[in-house]
Amino acid sequence: MLGLLIQLNILNMTKKSKNKFQVPKGMRDILPEDQIYWDKVKQIIKNLSKSYGFDFLETPILEDTELFIKGTGQNTDIVEKEMYSLKTKGGDKLTLRPEFTPSIIRAYLENGFSSLPHPIKLYSIGPIFRYERPQKGRYRQSYQANFEIIGEEDPILDAQLIQLFFSISKELGIKNLITQINSIGCSTCRPGYRKKLINFYRNRKKNFCPDCKRRYQQNPLRVLDCKNSKCIEASEGVPQIIDNLCDNCHNHFRSVLEYLDEIEIPYNLNSRLVRGLDYYAKTVFEIWPEDENNRQIALAGGGRYDGLIKLLGGKDMSGVGFAIGLDRIVNLMKEREIKIPSKVRSSIFLIQLGELGKKKSLKLFEELRRAGLDVTSSFSRNTIRDQLKKADKQGVRFTLILGQKEAIDETIIIRDMNSSSQEIVPLSKVIEKLKKKIKKK
Ligand code: HAM
Repeated sequence: MLGLLIQLNILNMTKKSKNKFQVPKGMRDILPEDQIYWDKVKQIIKNLSKSYGFDFLETPILEDTELFIKGTGQNTDIVEKEMYSLKTKGGDKLTLRPEFTPSIIRAYLENGFSSLPHPIKLYSIGPIFRYERPQKGRYRQSYQANFEIIGEEDPILDAQLIQLFFSISKELGIKNLITQINSIGCSTCRPGYRKKLINFYRNRKKNFCPDCKRRYQQNPLRVLDCKNSKCIEASEGVPQIIDNLCDNCHNHFRSVLEYLDEIEIPYNLNSRLVRGLDYYAKTVFEIWPEDENNRQIALAGGGRYDGLIKLLGGKDMSGVGFAIGLDRIVNLMKEREIKIPSKVRSSIFLIQLGELGKKKSLKLFEELRRAGLDVTSSFSRNTIRDQLKKADKQGVRFTLILGQKEAIDETIIIRDMNSSSQEIVPLSKVIEKLKKKIKKK
């Protein structure tokens, strides 16, 4: 109902004049009617994170700008074009986090996690900010659930993270998803592959889009996942990284795939998947819906990073992680009309009438709540009609009516909303009576 009212209001607003202030481009209000999805998604993520052994970590939304330049990478789109950066009055250069990973590693190093038994498994939920061109499923403020496993090279963990995503989507009722997976090698094998790519593209780069012309020297691997048709054409017959992995990366990747086979996770070997962040080594993956209109809208993405912890001042150790795009999950659930049982409404509505009834109700409301009864009320409404309407709309089982007469007599009316039957009971017995009635139902 609130949703409908809001929509009518918006219609009225757009009919008349635009509001003076509007939400910033690429950002949006998440309205009460959608909270049912967000609550469900977060609740399932929290429950499953716990079973998979993750601890919750909350970091500030602002971090030192240098952390992302170093961590996310100087030559990434994020650092080159998308960061919301500011200078404080004190002269600090800060950035609204465009992703979680560098913040989590900073927090891991700063809070002494490195002296604890490894691997360390941490998860976080919150907003990220990227100054991107808004389009379907792409916002300038979006929300991620981010997972990191720090200090363990075992390929079973790469597979287990993907399994975690599939468990979350299963509990949310989201089907028909496919993992896109690749290995982008490590500091041993990638430089050789990079050289091969530069040679391959030497005579083709004239057809590249402006972004790839720039990327050609700095990071030719990024040309592989460019969506521009000219770059796709220029990449026809390109050498495959999978054929250029060192033994260590090759074996690691083979094991990841074997684990995925074992747990029957659907995947597609995607030699074009390189991911846009500098820290990845070995496994990279994304999870995409399989339906036509959502293809290539990644619901989640991640991979292994072998140099990041050292780069940010820690030991030379490996990590692996991924992040789920919560906005995209909610959009998909709505698009696919996945039903979520509506929230359990309060079972009792307290109606008050007259000055004395109102005063007594204020105290009674608190007593009912403290007794563990699920009660709601609307103290500002004065007519019984208004209050009954509200109680009815909320679908409560019982209403309590405390008017002037009842307040003087120290009684109260209990009305069963299903049968419309009423009973007058002493005020001192109302909690006991209600508990009995609720138990009976
Ligand atoms: P990412 O691929 O940039 O990876 O983001 C992960 C997911 O966040 C995407 O698959 C998408 O669902 C969602 N997302 C990202 N940007 C937007 C946007 N502008 N609008 C809506 N949704 C968006 C990372 O952020 C890595 N830090 C993941 C990771 C963790 N890798 C290792 N550990």
